[in-house]
Amino acid sequence: MIKERSAKRLVAALLLLSVIPLAAGVFRLISLIGGAEMTPDNARFFEMPLPVVLHILSAGVYAILGPFQFAPGFRRRKPGWHHAAGRVLVLCGLMVGLTGLWMTLFYPIPYGGKLLFALRLLFGLAMVVSILLGFTAILRRDVNRHRAWMTRGYAIGLGAGTQALTEMAGTAIFGPPGDLSKALYMGTGWVINLAVAEWAIRRGYSRHDSKKQQDKRNLGL
Ligand code: HEM
Repeated sequence: MIKERSAKRLVAALLLLSVIPLAAGVFRLISLIGGAEMTPDNARFFEMPLPVVLHILSAGVYAILGPFQFAPGFRRRKPGWHHAAGRVLVLCGLMVGLTGLWMTLFYPIPYGGKLLFALRLLFGLAMVVSILLGFTAILRRDVNRHRAWMTRGYAIGLGAGTQALTEMAGTAIFGPPGDLSKALYMGTGWVINLAVAEWAIRRGYSRHDSKKQQDKRNLGL
């Protein structure tokens, strides 16, 4: 288990990481509702607004509620919260991944080329599968697998935040990105998040949980 103070820092860091994509989402919703001028850059959002609106709303809930699921103190103080929020998060996480896949397949996205198309299919699918595996694990009361798969799914979702940083850093160093570099910056964001998630999953279980504790949790004791 992580300590209370580290848990608060973790929640704050995860919330901070999603600030840029959430701000972009608010901006996109305002421009759609307010009827901003249609340009070649934004035409796809006006012509087919449903997937992007569902994507932004579900991503907002997922990114804001999600971090609290990782705080053990919060889970102890509000035992019903984790379960109730978890159900909402499963639905929102699936919605984020599925609408992301929908836009990848049907929006004429004018940047990123075939590599970004393939990466979005791969990671969008991986997010959906991770959340489903995390959900079925908890139905079997397998808490360790549940934690591992939900952490992976969340890491992929939060790729949106890390990608904003990798793209900013890449642009500052190498100038405006072309198709290939844009795809590489985004792919790097997902790889970094998954690497951190794998590290956290392994570290969490091996350092803090004895086999006995894991068995007790699996039995719901
Ligand atoms: C919590 C995580 C996520 C957040 C906060 C987020 C946020 C956003 C936002 C704000 C937009 C609108 C961009 C704009 O208005 O220009 C967007 C678009 C999009 N997102 Fe996500 N996203 C997340 C996860 C994902 C995932 C996992 C995928 C994987 C497939 C994905 C695929 C897409 C696609 C394809 C678009 C349309 C891009 C375009 O047409 O330019 N997103 N996302």
